[in-house]
Order: sequence, then C-alpha cells, then structure tokens
Amino acid sequence: MTLPPVPRLAVIVVAAGSGTRLRGGAPKAFVGLDGRTILHHALRGVFAGPAAQVVVVVPEGFQGEALTDARDAAGDRADLVTVVTGGATRQTSVAAGLAALWADVETVLVHDAARALTPPAVFERVAAALEAGADAVIPAVPVVDTIKRVDDTGRVVAAVDRSELAAAQTPQGFRRSVLLEALRRADADHTDDAALVAAAGHPVITVEGDASAFKITTGPDLDRARALLTDDAPTRAPRRPEHAGPRVGIGTDVHGFGGDGTLWLAGLEWPGEPALSGHSDGDAVAHAIVDALLAAAGLGDIGTHFGTDRPEFAGAHAAAFLSHTVGLLSAAGWRVGNVSVQVQANRPRFAARRLEAERVLSAALDGAPVSVSATTTDGLGFTGRTEGVAAFATALVLPV
Ligand code: CTP
Ligand code: MG
Repeated sequence: MTLPPVPRLAVIVVAAGSGTRLRGGAPKAFVGLDGRTILHHALRGVFAGPAAQVVVVVPEGFQGEALTDARDAAGDRADLVTVVTGGATRQTSVAAGLAALWADVETVLVHDAARALTPPAVFERVAAALEAGADAVIPAVPVVDTIKRVDDTGRVVAAVDRSELAAAQTPQGFRRSVLLEALRRADADHTDDAALVAAAGHPVITVEGDASAFKITTGPDLDRARALLTDDAPTRAPRRPEHAGPRVGIGTDVHGFGGDGTLWLAGLEWPGEPALSGHSDGDAVAHAIVDALLAAAGLGDIGTHFGTDRPEFAGAHAAAFLSHTVGLLSAAGWRVGNVSVQVQANRPRFAARRLEAERVLSAALDGAPVSVSATTTDGLGFTGRTEGVAAFATALVLPV
C-alpha cells in the first residue's frame, strides 16, 4: 500500500547491549515486559511516529528475533525495517545503524530500546525541532533530586545547582551529516550521541522529555515498566477497565469543492471530478474515519495528530492518514474492528466504485472491514447544492 509521505527521517533503535545491570537472562532488549519484549514496546512507540526507515541494532544471533518483533510492531510498515548487528559499545552500535541508512535519509533519531515506554509525542517533538532547522536535539527532563558532588571517599565536596541540570533522554535527533561527521572524528567513547556531537563542536538544543521515557537499567526499573503497563499509565495507553472491551466512536467531516487538481475521496482518485479543498487532499471520508477511530480509542481527534503543523500530511491521501492512525491506535493497545462510513454528496456517484473504495480503505486499515454507503440529500443543504461533501463514520476498536 502507499506509504505516508513522511520527511526523510530514520530512527535507529539501539538494542545491542547485553543488559549486565538488569541480569534479565537475555540481552536487555529481549527481556519480556508483558508477554512482549522491551524491544517490541520500544518499536511500537517508534512506528506511531513519522519514520521513513527504522534500523534496529541488535546483538549477534538476535537478528531473527528482532525482525519478528519489528514486523509485528510495524504492522503494514514492515518494509521500513532494517536489522543490523551492533558493536561492543553503544557508540559502535550507533555507527552500525548509521551505516545501514538509506541514501535519501537526511535526519536521524537515535533511540535506546531500553526506553521502551517513550510516548510518541517525544518522537514528534524531536522530529519537529529538526524540521525547524536544529542540527542536534535531545529530549530532557528537569532533575528533581538535589545533586551533590562527592569525592572518592564518599564525602560531599560541593552542592550542584539543580536549576542548571537536565537529564537527557532519547530519541536524540540529528542532521545525518552532523552525526556522521561527529562519529568519524570521535576520539573517545560517549554514553550518548549528544555528547559526541557536542564534542565535535555542534550546538545541541533540548525539547521537553517525558517521565515515561525512563531507561530500564536495573531490576526495579523493569518492575516500574511492568507496573506502568498493567496499571493506569497516565501518559500511555489508558489500560482502564473499559479497555478490556470494544469501544465505538463517531466522526464527521465536510469539505467544499474548490481545491486544485482532481478529486480524492474515499481513498480513490476521481479523474474529471472537481477537487475538494483542505490542508490535505480534502478527503472527507478518510478524515471522518480517522476521527471515528481516534474517538473510539479515546485518543483525541484529527487536529490532535494531523494539525496544520504537520507538513508531511499536507496533500497526503487517505492511506497516509489511515495507516498513521492505525499506528497511533496500536501504540495505545487498540486494533480496528470495523468501520462504516456514509457519504452525502451529489457527486461523485459512488455506485460503480463503492467496492473499490471499500477495498482501498480496508487495506489502509490493516484489512479491517470498511463499509461505504452514499446518499444525496434531495437537493437540500450544501450537499444538495453541490457545494461540498459530508461524511459520517462510525468505528469499532478492540483491545490488541
Ligand atoms: N546498546 C547498544 N550496543 C551496546 C551497548 C548498548 O546498542 N554495545 C544499547 C542498549 O541496548 C540500550 C542502550 O544502548 O538500548 C542504552 O544502553 P544501556 O542502558 O547501558 O544498556 P546495556 O548496555 O544493554 O546495559 P548494561 O550497561 O547494564 O549492560
Ligand atoms: Mg551499557
């Protein structure tokens, strides 16, 4: 199916560490959280975002397992996945990931698999800062503990002003050329990529991180992640009682005729029909479905996720919107049950292409059934005057 028109952004997920401090019986990324591995959870967050390529860096011998996890987390975006073998240090693992980037990738996010519960919003903030022109961006959270400098006998030497400190998280974002050059010039091993890039003389800016993006390092961190997944995790999927059952949602959308080019409606191009206007292609059917799905999953509405501040969705067609929505749902623990959508319009005439529209929309929703119906309004209202198109959708979502 058509991929979303995303910017040339790749995410390198470093998962090649051994997890010596965790002692989980397997390399850390392959330790289970809730029946799914740390890596699987990390990748779900990645695939909810705008990546055009996802490189997973794993220990020798774990390529097959990583590919299975990645394909499962990717849904219909599995062809974005590249799995490579990492090195002895995090920095060499990052270098291995960089070497596997496709030629057209311009910006890179490097993400620790160990930060398995990082919310998609953090990826989006870092990507947005890169798009705004930054060379290097890290998510950071304020330090809450009072910090002391301590000598090797354990004696406090000095207090450190907490207001000047921030804890760095991942994904850390870079212009590809900047990270590549910093790695080439590296004469020391750095614990994160921002330190490497800063050592090469580049300014690094921060965006807001998130408490859920903590790194699973020790046993208690693993317990915390597991508890967040079973309990009510405020920044992630609402795993509340109602999550156990199906939920329905409703969405409507209206677009007026008067756009440029040809008409796109219900995921189909309609040569010879007047185009609808809108930030994207004006496909009211697709937008109503997105709203219905987001509403059913309790994830806000189309403006929350596809606002005009997301240039990659300008001019995008239904498949881009719908597959991104499936990713958002899946990161929150939902899959699509079915969708029913009704179009109110004098034109185009749907009868001849109804099944085709259903097939295209269903393919963009991971194969979930979509029913399309169409009606006119007896000459009444704006649809009756052929000024525009209205669409009404209901959706059913089910827990994954
Ligand atoms: N990492 C990597 N290659 C390495 C070392 C680390 O890809 N040679 C990755 C880890 O898989 C992890 C991230 O870098 O996702 C952060 O590293 P860390 O939390 O230190 O993980 P480990 O090195 O696996 O853990 P430990 O230091 O306890 O052995
Ligand atoms: Mg380590």
